[in-house]
Amino acid sequence: MSMDIRDFRNALGKFATGVTVITTRDAAGEHYGVTASSFNAVSMTPPLILWSIDKSAYSLDAYCQAEHFVVNVLGSDQVPISNRFAQRGENKFQDIELEEGVGGSARIMGAVAHFECRTWQVYEGGDHFIIVGEVLEYDYQDSRGALVFHNGRYALPEPHPMTIPQEEVETEEGLLGHQFLYLLRQSLSVYRKHFYPRLEHLGVDEKEWRVLTLLLDQGVQPLEAVAQRVAQPLEDLEDTLSGLTRRRLVSVHDDNERTFALTAAGGELAHKLLQMAQDYEQKVFEGVSEDLSHLKSGLVHVIEQLGTR
Ligand SMILES: Cc1cc2nc3c(=O)[nH]c(=O)nc-3n(C[C@H](O)[C@H](O)[C@H](O)COP(=O)(O)O)c2cc1C
Repeated sequence: MSMDIRDFRNALGKFATGVTVITTRDAAGEHYGVTASSFNAVSMTPPLILWSIDKSAYSLDAYCQAEHFVVNVLGSDQVPISNRFAQRGENKFQDIELEEGVGGSARIMGAVAHFECRTWQVYEGGDHFIIVGEVLEYDYQDSRGALVFHNGRYALPEPHPMTIPQEEVETEEGLLGHQFLYLLRQSLSVYRKHFYPRLEHLGVDEKEWRVLTLLLDQGVQPLEAVAQRVAQPLEDLEDTLSGLTRRRLVSVHDDNERTFALTAAGGELAHKLLQMAQDYEQKVFEGVSEDLSHLKSGLVHVIEQLGTR
C-alpha cells in the first residue's frame, strides 16, 4: 500500500500527546536536546519508557551512544522551549535555566516532570530508532498543566466537562436564584475559578493579567491610575510592575512622572491574553451569545446608573 505521508501524519496527529525535550550529554561534555512527542510509558517493573528519534536528526549519534538521558515533560507555558529544541543543530541551551541530571544530562527547570534514565535498549524502527530507557529517578509537579500536542498544534490540557463534579454546576433554585447581586457574585466566583488558571499557560498570574491588559487598552499610564484601575494596593502593584519590567514586558515610560507602558513583547503577550479571554467567553456562552450581549448591556447600565452617583 503506497501511503500519502502528509495524510498519514494528519491521522497520527489525532492522537493527542504531551511534549518533551529529551536531553543528553556526550563524552566530550557537549549538551544535546531534542523536542519529542513520541515519549511513552512501557513497563512498570522494571520502570521503562521509550521515545523514537529520526535517523536524520543532527543529534542521532549522541542519543544512540548515550548511557543516560533525561526526559523533560514540558509545562503549558513552555512553547518557546519546545520550539527552540525542535530546531536542528547545536547551541539550543542559551538562556534556559538548567540543573544537572543523571550522567550530566540537562534537567530543564519548570518542566512538569523529569524522568532520568539509563539507556536500556536501542531498536531500529524504519526511519527512526526506538530508544528504551530505564527510569532511575523521577519527579513531577502536581499543580501545573502539561503542554499538549494535538492535530499538529500545541494545545492546552483541560478537564472534560463530564468529569466536573455535579455540585460545582448546580444553580440556586429559590429566591436567591433571581437576585442580581447573588447571581453576579456566584458567576464571578466560578468564572474566575475556571478562567484564571488558564493564564498560567501564557506564564502570567491574575495580577499581571490585569496590568498587561489595562496598559494595552489605555496606553501609557501613571502608577496611581494603574493602581486605581486594577484595584491593587500600591506596594503590591509596584512588585507586579517590577516583575513585568524585569521580564521586559513593561517599561518605565517616564521615570519622573512614574508612567508605565507595554514593550513590544508585552503588547504581543497582552493581545494573546485578550484573545484567550475572548475565546473563553465565547466558549462559556456558546449557544446563548445573544444573552451575553444583553447581559453586557445590563452591566453597563448598572455602571452608568450607579457609577457616577
Ligand atoms: C511537537 C514536536 C514533536 C516532535 N517529536 C519528535 C520525535 O518524537 N522524534 C524526533 O526525532 N523528532 C521529533 N520532533 C522533531 C525534532 O524536534 C527536530 O527534528 C529537531 O530538529 C531535532 O533536533 P536535532 O536535529 O538537532 O537533533 C518533534 C518536533 C515537534 C515540534
